[in-house]
Amino acid sequence: MLPSLVSVALLLPVFRAAQGAVTVQHHWAGGFQGEACIPISKDLNGWKAHLVFQEDVKSLDAFVATVTKVSNREFRLENKDYNAVEHVGDKLCFTFIGHGDGDISPAATISIEGMNSPSGSGQTGSPAHTTQSAPTPAPNTGGGTATKNYASALGKSILFYDAQRSGKLPANNPIKWRGDSGLNDCVVGGWYDAGDHVKFGLPMASSTTLLLWSLYSFKDGYVKAGQLNNMYDMIKWPLDYFLKAWDPHKKELVVQIGDGLADHHFWGRPEDMTMARPCTKVNQQKKGSDIAAETAAALALGSITFKRKGDRNYASRLLTAAESLYSFAKNNRGVFRDDAFFYSSSGDRDELCEASMWLYRATGNRQYLQDANSTWVETAWAWALGWDDKKVACQELLYEETHNADYRRDVEGYFSSWLPGGTSQIPYTPCGLAWRSLWGANRYAGNSAFLALIAAEAGIGTLRYRKWAVEQINFILGDNKHDGGCFSYQIGYGSKYPLRPHHRAASCPDRPKPCTEAQLNDPKPSPQLLVGALVGGPLQSGEYKDDRLNYTLNEVATDYNSGFQGALAGIVHLELTKNLPPTVNKCPCKS
Ligand SMILES: *[C@@H]1O[C@H](CO)[C@@H](O)[C@H](O)[C@H]1NC(C)=O
Ligand SMILES: *[C@@H]1O[C@H](CO)[C@@H](O)[C@H](O)[C@H]1NC(C)=O
Repeated sequence: MLPSLVSVALLLPVFRAAQGAVTVQHHWAGGFQGEACIPISKDLNGWKAHLVFQEDVKSLDAFVATVTKVSNREFRLENKDYNAVEHVGDKLCFTFIGHGDGDISPAATISIEGMNSPSGSGQTGSPAHTTQSAPTPAPNTGGGTATKNYASALGKSILFYDAQRSGKLPANNPIKWRGDSGLNDCVVGGWYDAGDHVKFGLPMASSTTLLLWSLYSFKDGYVKAGQLNNMYDMIKWPLDYFLKAWDPHKKELVVQIGDGLADHHFWGRPEDMTMARPCTKVNQQKKGSDIAAETAAALALGSITFKRKGDRNYASRLLTAAESLYSFAKNNRGVFRDDAFFYSSSGDRDELCEASMWLYRATGNRQYLQDANSTWVETAWAWALGWDDKKVACQELLYEETHNADYRRDVEGYFSSWLPGGTSQIPYTPCGLAWRSLWGANRYAGNSAFLALIAAEAGIGTLRYRKWAVEQINFILGDNKHDGGCFSYQIGYGSKYPLRPHHRAASCPDRPKPCTEAQLNDPKPSPQLLVGALVGGPLQSGEYKDDRLNYTLNEVATDYNSGFQGALAGIVHLELTKNLPPTVNKCPCKS
């Protein structure tokens, strides 16, 4: 623990402005980090916000806006292109980092030019608004009360994926500490997998598929959270990469870029990598039907997504690629084996099933449905939903299309092993996280929570599954006892969260300062806030360490956030449709 860093957000005064609220969440010698939230009371197309501190502040960083210093205490923040439009009822919330002399924690106000206080009174002095760091309970919906700001967590998760981007970053890149990287890769673009810089095909495709599924099923949640366009923008990045990675003429798919072992020996920024980045392909000789099929699933679901959006050209390119890639996978069966055994899949039937189900939905061609049915493994209950195992996803999709009782029984079997009581086989932490594994327990809980919400929509276990899913997400966002309670395992949510994720880029100071192994071993908080990332999570005992060296508990990954984000979209959908169930968390955050 760094002695000068004081995590006292709960003790700090919250200064409430007429239009918004600002909290300082952490402060240390020379800097502080806070969050500002303004409820939008007028439709805006472009905005200028003013952040006014009660003490002198040297400079301010906020990645959602262009910052101009007006005086020693005032900063003007102007929207970026991607967040110019704000609608009545939205809440504009963002984190910022201030730099000053010494250890200060200044009170501040925020307001938007030309936006009067809500309800048209035209006066300052409208009701004060609570910030995200002390989440506002929403009105009763479906009998349940929201205790977390799920929409805010959803927006942050999207930013995590933006921080994982490899390649030439677009002009609207919201992560200012990231730059272009991997420009000599055999396929430029895509996501870095985790805290490292390998581009692994299987988790990249699995995460993309799960994220797209949440957009397919809970689009209203993304809209309500004001995140629809950010989501389209974020998810197009891996889809563009897959289009480039697949060569239908040579029948060759690039499935991995980078050497896991060499990569893991380098601690530094992706922008500074100099090691060889070998390009691994599968084809008719070197098999990889698991990765090919999962990539086809992502492309097929991507085509549905962008067709619905009205982007027909892009949708048809995605579909053409999905069909040829699926056909390649189906005719060249064999699981990909990486020499170093990172992400070795236990089989390819589940991926083939997912691909054929989404192709069926994209095309209406019944051959795909028959294909999916033929890959089904009777009464096989998945251990968890994740980058390797999509059996339960396949069973759920088959049930949705056919309403066949066998598929339903499989989905119920899965959840009977996950939910407490009955045939429960899964351990729980004392505060109630379904704890599947030492590696990324939060991830498996998030993925299962997402699937539970999907199954609930299809009429399976509706009330029980919804309640359980929301409780899992509540645990992750603060209903736990770590660090005195109210600890969010998602970085940047609330007032207490991991500050030392096992993530190379975030551990590095601003460029061009050097970044080496010294940053891995530095006990201080990471200089860059990896907003939105979900860390691995606690031990079964509930113990957790915010320790950069501990990659078991404190790594982040594209796979980790995928179901978690989907569940957040699902919960916002429940709030919107007034179906949020009553929940009972064992260790509720009372702040
Ligand atoms: C699925 O396969 C089984 C045989 O394994 C068959 O009896 C059933 O009709 C198939 N269902 C569909 C929808 O193709
Ligand atoms: C992470 O911390 C836990 C709890 O102290 C410990 O059991 C585990 O071995 C640590 N793992 C690593 C990689 O340091």
